[in-house]
Amino acid sequence: MFIQWNSSYLVGHKLVDFDHMTLVNITNELFHRVNQGFSDEEIAQTIKCLIDYVEKHFEREEELFKNSEYPDTDKHLAMHEDITKTVRDIAHVYQTNPGAININEVLEFLKKWLTNHIMKADIGYVEYLK
Ligand SMILES: [Fe+2]
Ligand SMILES: [Fe+2]
Repeated sequence: MFIQWNSSYLVGHKLVDFDHMTLVNITNELFHRVNQGFSDEEIAQTIKCLIDYVEKHFEREEELFKNSEYPDTDKHLAMHEDITKTVRDIAHVYQTNPGAININEVLEFLKKWLTNHIMKADIGYVEYLK
C-alpha cells in the first residue's frame, strides 16, 4: 500500500471524505500498476482517471466553500487551479511520451500533495460549512 488511509485524513464531511478516499485509492492503484509492470497505456489510463476525478472533486469542493463564509476561498481556488494544471500536464506528457516522465517522482509528488492538501487546506473550510 502506497498511501495508507487513516483517520487523520478525515475532514468530517461525508462527501468530501469519500472523494479523498477515492483519490487515495486511485493513487494506490497507480502505484500498484507502476510496480507490477503494467503497460504505459494502462498506466496512462490510471493517470487519466486520476485527473478526471481530481477535477470532479474540486468542482464539488468549490461548490461547498464558495457558498460559505470561508475566508481563504481565493487562495484555495488558486491551489486547485495549480494542481489541476500540473496533473493535467503530467497526464498529457505521459500519454504522448511516457519515457519523459519519472513516474516514481510523480507518485511521491501525488502522495505529498494529497496528504498535505487534505490535512492543511481542506480541513480549513469544513468549519465554515453549515
Ligand atoms: Fe481542496
Ligand atoms: Fe479535497
